[in-house]
Amino acid sequence: MKGPIGVFDSGYGGLTILKQFQELLPEYDYLYLGDNARSPYGIRSFDTIYEYTLEAVKYLFSRDCHLIVLACNTASAKALVNVQKLDLPLIDPNRRVLGVIRPTAETIGDLTVSGHVGVLATEGTVTSESYQLEMKKLYPEVTVYQEACPMWVPLIENGELDSEGARFFIKRNIDHLLSHSIEIDTILLGCTHYPVLIDIIKQYVPSHVRVLPQGSIIAQSLKDYLIRHTEIDEKCNKNGITTFLTTGSSQDFNKRASSFLNEKVNSTRIDSLIIEEAFM
Ligand code: DGL
Repeated sequence: MKGPIGVFDSGYGGLTILKQFQELLPEYDYLYLGDNARSPYGIRSFDTIYEYTLEAVKYLFSRDCHLIVLACNTASAKALVNVQKLDLPLIDPNRRVLGVIRPTAETIGDLTVSGHVGVLATEGTVTSESYQLEMKKLYPEVTVYQEACPMWVPLIENGELDSEGARFFIKRNIDHLLSHSIEIDTILLGCTHYPVLIDIIKQYVPSHVRVLPQGSIIAQSLKDYLIRHTEIDEKCNKNGITTFLTTGSSQDFNKRASSFLNEKVNSTRIDSLIIEEAFM
């Protein structure tokens, strides 16, 4: 049976990726899942992030997704390799789960001129060193400086986008990142939540430094993937319909997601991501 493309994030952040999918690939159906009840992931342990992400993957498979994008750097950094190598072969080797780190690393290496790149991300993504490791493989001449911003996701999830408190933490983290090197010419927003803060972020970044959100990079990479993998593309429904699920309050989700996407969102709340193993 065909199904939608699954798009997963701990909360609202993946909507910044979904928006670009809808723009570049409007014909596909998407099933967005935000684990808002358990967000943020960035401060959680490796085991917990892996456990939650695997639950979400199994849940989305049970809703007929053949392809899932982890639109979350933290889940991509902490869970993707295990899910791909250990779980998928047992659950269903014909389904696919993709992440956001590799395609992003491929792009930043091409964009930097100075060879000095900053990454703003969650604690989980920073401690995983995923960006540094990927960049070392792809562009060994590029130096990556990282800054964990543990306060940013809670501020975004709680709708505190332009408060004095938000500005305080944003400026502090950016100043700290930039203090590592005056040669930084590119700052990656290495958390899918952060693009909603981009206007404020840019106020604290010198104008010659590029601030890079991931959405369009991941959308292009998905497009390329679907062209290369016709066997997966054939299993994706193409009616241009997006469905939203949240583990949190659907009223809150509708309100925030509508303002993220500039369109009316009607989400459904799901009590638990744990599904009957009988399905698998
Ligand atoms: N949006 C996520 C990311 O890209 C995760 C944020 C969180 O839950 O901490 O890392």
